[in-house]
Amino acid sequence: MQYFSGRFKEKASDLILDFHSSIKFDQRLYRYDIMGSIAHVRGLAKQKIISEKEGEIIEKTLLEILNEIEEGKIEFSITYEDIHMNIEKILIDKIGDIGKKLHTGRSRNDQVALDIRLFSKDEVKKIQSYLIELIEVLIKLSNENLETYMPGFTHLQKAQPISFGHYLLAYVEMFKRDYTRLLNAFELADYSPLGSAALAGTSYPIDREYTAKILGFKGATLNTLDSVSDRDYLIEIMSSLSITMMHLSRFSEEIIIYSSNDFGYIELSDAFSTGSSIMPQKKNPDAAELVRGKTGRVYGDLISLLTTMKGIPLAYNKDMQEDKEVFFDCIDTVKGCLQVFIGMIRTLKVKKDILLLACNDGFINATDVADYLTIKGISFRDAYKITGSIVSYCMDNNFNLETMPFGKYIEFSELFEKDIYEAITIKNCVEKRDSFGGPSKVSLQNHLNILEIFLKSAREELISYRINDIL
Ligand code: ARG
Repeated sequence: MQYFSGRFKEKASDLILDFHSSIKFDQRLYRYDIMGSIAHVRGLAKQKIISEKEGEIIEKTLLEILNEIEEGKIEFSITYEDIHMNIEKILIDKIGDIGKKLHTGRSRNDQVALDIRLFSKDEVKKIQSYLIELIEVLIKLSNENLETYMPGFTHLQKAQPISFGHYLLAYVEMFKRDYTRLLNAFELADYSPLGSAALAGTSYPIDREYTAKILGFKGATLNTLDSVSDRDYLIEIMSSLSITMMHLSRFSEEIIIYSSNDFGYIELSDAFSTGSSIMPQKKNPDAAELVRGKTGRVYGDLISLLTTMKGIPLAYNKDMQEDKEVFFDCIDTVKGCLQVFIGMIRTLKVKKDILLLACNDGFINATDVADYLTIKGISFRDAYKITGSIVSYCMDNNFNLETMPFGKYIEFSELFEKDIYEAITIKNCVEKRDSFGGPSKVSLQNHLNILEIFLKSAREELISYRINDIL
């Protein structure tokens, strides 16, 4: 192998070539590798480490290689191990000795660290924009269901009435946090390791702040040893995305339950469901199940990289090449799941009547009976006990709280008046809960106003990215 030819006398075994090589998967980084090389070359020329002319020739040829890769004209080879050496080899084949100057003051260690930082920044932004799209779809559906009452659950037992809008906005809050977590992860990735070289920087008079700036980074990393050893930003992104998958998985679980025959609260569109090969009546929520299933896979990707990193000494070790496949898998899986989710929610049918009907059993307004008595002057604990006895009576006699005769109410407590029936309608139970963050229409509208402000700044933030793409 020409790169190591000075030191090595024997040819590498075919077995080890294949084993070492990462080109099969890291060719995906070609664009970032070329961007990094162009920045490096501009930096070398600015500092007069190579001549301006040489810099121009290398940059022009790198752009030519980029086009050829995109047109499918280039075949990479495992002989050159990875994307970095493949591109350098092609450059040298094209322009000879001038091409050999590209690697001055640089190592593959800072090169690969740079490439995946650039890649991960772009991918984080893509995922953030999917999250915003999902939030927008959820907000739209919430708006259409501000007064669609439904049972809220604890322990998967009917608990208290809420609205479908309130339910959806709970997920909006989760995805908002996911968005913010990615902002933090992005910030950690936003420093350039270029110029850290193998581990100890370089004695050439390079300007790391300059190359960082033209690549769109906030600045250069502060310690060359750390720069080439660090994969925290990937772990940070993958842990944020694991939390996103946990949210998607909980949501999936509810979509599966709510669209089941027994619940029937929602109906998935045919376009996002599948049938059975034997049972003609079936319409299965496979997409939601797959998202739930893929959550384990994303957790696995995270645990894999954490485990890879936990025992390796500073600085670069080949173990770190294992970062890419799991990171790519994590990113691709999350993007796929988010896209499917956006479509699934956009086409979801909400069965408003069934949701309301579901509020009729399960005594979900029992807390409101207790609250009614408490307002009339007894302690909440006593009111709780009386209401418990009422519920027990209703269960034995086939009533619910709305249908139990007033005469009976009086037997349980003389504090009851005829207005008890009005106090416990499902609508009133929800609309009375109008404090900050509650399910009432007024609270939801307040929440939606706050969300508008969040969305505006998120959209501006996403649009302003990209400005620094040097290609
Ligand atoms: N293909 C390698 C990786 O992905 C690039 C860095 C190689 N550096 C080295 N010293 N062998 O990690």
